[in-house]
Amino acid sequence: MTNTRAEAFAPATMANIGVGFDILGLAISGVGDTVIAEWGDGEGAQLTRIEGDGGKLPFDAAQNVTTIAANAVLRQVGYRGGVRLSLLKGLPLASGLGSSAASAVAGAVAVNALLGEPLTREALLPACLEGEAAVSGYHADNVAPSLFGGITLTTGVALEDIQRLPVPLGVHFAFVTPNVEVRTAEARAVLPAQIPLKQMIHQTGMVARLVDAIYRNDLQALALAMEGDVVVEPARAHLMPYLYEARALAKANGALALVISGAGPTLCAVCEGAQVAQTVLDALQAFYGQKGLQSSGRVAQIAERGATVKLF
Ligand code: HSE
Repeated sequence: MTNTRAEAFAPATMANIGVGFDILGLAISGVGDTVIAEWGDGEGAQLTRIEGDGGKLPFDAAQNVTTIAANAVLRQVGYRGGVRLSLLKGLPLASGLGSSAASAVAGAVAVNALLGEPLTREALLPACLEGEAAVSGYHADNVAPSLFGGITLTTGVALEDIQRLPVPLGVHFAFVTPNVEVRTAEARAVLPAQIPLKQMIHQTGMVARLVDAIYRNDLQALALAMEGDVVVEPARAHLMPYLYEARALAKANGALALVISGAGPTLCAVCEGAQVAQTVLDALQAFYGQKGLQSSGRVAQIAERGATVKLF
């Protein structure tokens, strides 16, 4: 027990990457959640501080994704002492940026670091999934990129179901989050239970083209494929304010594509270069402003690294 404190930062993530519903995700640079772990009294992990959530998140260890993930790590390694956690939210809740996954990953990684890293990064996956499951379902499309970084293809929840894809160069994103609530449960409830064969062929073809474009570092093809969703986006479009107008505006300002980030309401414009992305972001925020909607936004790239740790 040489360290007194471990601080973990877990990046925000964009699930789906457009067409890859529930199977593709990527880590976003420069934004995420931080968890600070310190030795505490009693048994198990307890949250003593939460900042940046507007008072919305529970402190109850059985309900908060951070403590659920942290306690799963403590159980996994058989540690019976107490740990105090502080959660510093760096991204808005329920916005399509993998907020709950980042909180779970930061919790698991921070506690593991405090204990001297008894578990490998890969071995933390079940604990992170357990945390994520408490609010967002037992799936890895946000957790995997937050934990491992880069772009991940997740076809299940076991480690062997997760593939890391190469990170294309030069792609910048403009993320804009209008101040509206889109609950993930609602965004999933509007999806069709069955789809026609023709749609299935189109959708799987576009996913295949997206993965091919990622491997070839072809941004034009990547953007085209990301927008090729004929199943999920049409069903959700009415929940995203001005989606199609925002897409047209983004493209008029130089974006290659615009998709819903995760289950929304954040929209992600795909751009070549940071300057174009900033121009697109400014235009989208001004547009929402004209429509009477407040928004937050940022230009970002794909984060090659997953959660990072500092020890004190
Ligand atoms: N893939 C999920 C969705 C992300 O689009 O519903 C939210 O957890």
